[in-house]
Amino acid sequence: ESYDMGGHDTYMHKEISEQADSVDRVLRGRIDDRFATVHLGGLNMDAREARGVRRVKILGCGSAYHAGMIGAQLIEEVARIPADAEPASEFRYRNAVVDPDCLYIAVSQSGETYDTLAAVQELKRKGARVLGVVNVVGSAIARETDGGVYVHAGPEVCVVSTKCFTNTAVAFALLALHLGRIRDLSVADGKRLIAGLRRLPEQIAEILDGEEAIRRLAAEYAQARSMMFVGRVRGYPVAREASLKLKEVSYIHAEAYPASELKHGPLALIEPAVPTVAILPDDELLEKNRATLEEIKARHGRILAVAHAEQEKADHTIVVPRNEVELDPILMGLPLQLLAYHTALCLDRDIDKPRNLAKSVTVE
Ligand code: AGP
Repeated sequence: ESYDMGGHDTYMHKEISEQADSVDRVLRGRIDDRFATVHLGGLNMDAREARGVRRVKILGCGSAYHAGMIGAQLIEEVARIPADAEPASEFRYRNAVVDPDCLYIAVSQSGETYDTLAAVQELKRKGARVLGVVNVVGSAIARETDGGVYVHAGPEVCVVSTKCFTNTAVAFALLALHLGRIRDLSVADGKRLIAGLRRLPEQIAEILDGEEAIRRLAAEYAQARSMMFVGRVRGYPVAREASLKLKEVSYIHAEAYPASELKHGPLALIEPAVPTVAILPDDELLEKNRATLEEIKARHGRILAVAHAEQEKADHTIVVPRNEVELDPILMGLPLQLLAYHTALCLDRDIDKPRNLAKSVTVE
């Protein structure tokens, strides 16, 4: 894509709108349908080496960390390798034990974030294998890592990350499939997930077509004093990212919690002026999530649900198309990018350059 706004009022809106194409790009040329395998030439790791990976640790900051949380869940679920994500900024300061059988993955749009780069350098000094999942080709993190996956989101100008977040999550789905197929993921399951990945661009376009309805919801929720975002397991990184998006661009205070943690404290905040956005994928936790909606309603909280069908307990539901459950986190965050955007527009914020923020934090 070009750097001009192409008829959009902001880069944020342009970049949100580009996601069907950018997701198509991250998938292109990387899938072999015959064997349900994925080719990621930049990994520099043969099948035997990849089979030796006993654990995966993903490091990044902000939205990159949230995309890494989705990545860790995908790798654990699809490839059955224990995986977790941690803010790179924490990891680099805590003198972590570096495990020779662990594959470390640094995630970054810019490839220049200092905390993430410093974590990579410390890992390299200790002999770890580090891959990059990076957008900017030839950036510092891309150069310092042993290999990796480019996410091909194209230039992202708005300080607030949107299309790169989505593309990074899709890149992790490809990596999870790759690691899964050289382990125990069956051809049938591989094909099921590949078909799901191929449906993404069309489903993204469908979600973005619902912008007008989301604009109306934003006008209503823009009056909120604070907002709560909740989800369980697959919904939780989506809640984290949506909460970050809203506060970055609209300056409305927002908190994100695993839905099951509400009763351990945050429920005290629920009242009509503090609405909750609840992420409800149609997975094995749907009933639990519906019970959470009841708990919120009992405290007179307003609820905006993101789900695959209207939710009776919610005041409003944004319905997103169904895909494979493993891929739900990729789609469910998209309407919430638009919600953040339109909320900020209602409040007349400086959308592409929110106060106090820089596109990439290259200093300590
Ligand atoms: C995202 O909206 C943010 N502006 C911010 O959290 C960003 O994701 C973070 O600073 C990491 O940047 P990077 O991906 O370039 O490393």
